[in-house]
Amino acid sequence: MDQIETIKQLKKEKNAVILAHYYVDGEVQAIADYVGDSYYLSKLATTLPEDVIIFCGVQFMGESAKILNPEKTVIMADEYADCPMAHMVDTDTIAAVRKEHPDVCVVCYVNSTAQIKSCSDVCVTSSNAIRIVRALPEKKIFFIPDNNLGRYVASQIPEKEFIFHDGYCHVHKSIHKDELIQAKEAHPEALVLTHPECTSDVLELSDFIGSTSEIIDYATASENKTFIICTEMGIFYELGQKNPDKKFYSVGHRQFCPNMKRINLDKVLKALKQLSPEVRLDKELAEKSNLPLRRMLELAKS
Ligand code: 13P
Ligand code: SF4
Repeated sequence: MDQIETIKQLKKEKNAVILAHYYVDGEVQAIADYVGDSYYLSKLATTLPEDVIIFCGVQFMGESAKILNPEKTVIMADEYADCPMAHMVDTDTIAAVRKEHPDVCVVCYVNSTAQIKSCSDVCVTSSNAIRIVRALPEKKIFFIPDNNLGRYVASQIPEKEFIFHDGYCHVHKSIHKDELIQAKEAHPEALVLTHPECTSDVLELSDFIGSTSEIIDYATASENKTFIICTEMGIFYELGQKNPDKKFYSVGHRQFCPNMKRINLDKVLKALKQLSPEVRLDKELAEKSNLPLRRMLELAKS
């Protein structure tokens, strides 16, 4: 039996489902049962009937699936696939801001550890952050950890007061304005579609700003045939699948998340066979970090 057939067979035997983020390699997206952005994957995880979730993404995504589904077995395809941004803020910083601003609402980008979520008031993803922050009753927001996403959200909600943190995604930060200008000169007919983790000077040159799913939806619905894509290159797989007649260009060669790219078919197969490495969380931490994630899912409905 070939590798893909073995994966399918094992999925049935173990009553498992494979979830993948758009940034993992195309070969992994191709065998996944569901592929999506961070919001879709966390929402979906609460509705799945299978006992086992094999997560093809980074640590915080598997952790969120486990927090929202404590009774399920959540297995990481690679236990070392981790998002550096998730570790860029600490609990002391949150406590200090809360002390100085007792009326603050701590808004936590899901790209964060369970411990950070447990000290936050609400979680957001790149696709729902604006809607959720707007819906919050508090006027003062401490947005952690991503500075770029926080500033973008703030630019859309001028009526609120923001305190920013200095976290960032090294992949999106490395997409430079000058290189984008060169790409625009090389493809003047292209629309620029950008993830809000990019810096503000890149966002200013963009035609559309959105999460990975929103970028794919925008390109698919557009009558334009050429696009410059400012986010991680794994997204090109689904863009190509949905739009074989359209052209997609990157800005440079650094649009590559080494953590997402740790995952391959060998590791998915091994994870299914061994049902390991499993995401395990301390009960109290899981309960505390569940609240801001649930609040996000509730507010996102409004
Ligand atoms: P989205 O999936 O929300 O677009 O986020 C991108 C990202 O950086 C995930 O690590
Ligand atoms: Fe983290 Fe950036 Fe990789 Fe997303 S692309 S997992 S934010 S390092």
